[in-house]
Amino acid sequence: MAQNEMKKAVARSAFEYVESILDRDTIIGVGTGSTANFFIQELSKISDRIEGTVASSLESDKRLKALGIPVYDLNSVGEVQVYIDGADESNEHLQLIKGGGAALTREKIIAAASEEFICIADESKLVHVLGKFPLPVEVIPIARSYVGREIVKLGGDPVYRDNCMTDNGNHIIDVFNLDIMEPTKLEERLNNITGVITNGLFAVRPADRLFLGEDSGVRILQR
Ligand code: 5RP
Repeated sequence: MAQNEMKKAVARSAFEYVESILDRDTIIGVGTGSTANFFIQELSKISDRIEGTVASSLESDKRLKALGIPVYDLNSVGEVQVYIDGADESNEHLQLIKGGGAALTREKIIAAASEEFICIADESKLVHVLGKFPLPVEVIPIARSYVGREIVKLGGDPVYRDNCMTDNGNHIIDVFNLDIMEPTKLEERLNNITGVITNGLFAVRPADRLFLGEDSGVRILQR
């Protein structure tokens, strides 16, 4: 199966799951990226049967609204029952690297606020050790050089992402050459650097389930 077909297949499986737990009050967290976009497409089939969504980026917000799906500010909703989003990498413990699309901070907030977090990804995203994909770090613009120097001390190679302004008005540093053996510790350590908004490790709050698209179909991994 081609990569895009796998992405479509996991988006469909996530949609079927959401449909099975749905009631009129359900608020669904919706992520960002090409896999999440396939999910948004599926979700439009039941836009009249859900209370609404919260979006992890302005881009997803726009797509959802264009399809007639209500989008709320996270502050104005109570509970988010389920959050569906893609990832750049996942290990077997469902700890993730996210932020390839620069939406990591809002994604992390929605993941934290959600009862259940389902990650949808094609099989190329499953790795033994996180870190081949450069780890995105969102930084306050004036702290960029300072944060870069601190990251070098941790053994990473920071590269400023050109022409990228996040939805929160910040910059992204992509960190190369990290072998992430202790994801939770590194996540906390990076977040402690002054000027860092957050980093793309989702280890403190990993996914609860991973719907993985494979040649033979969708495999579900659970923590
Ligand atoms: C955006 C993300 C995405 O989930 C991640 O980049 C995966 O994208 P895609 O589904 O297009 O492969 O974290 O910030």
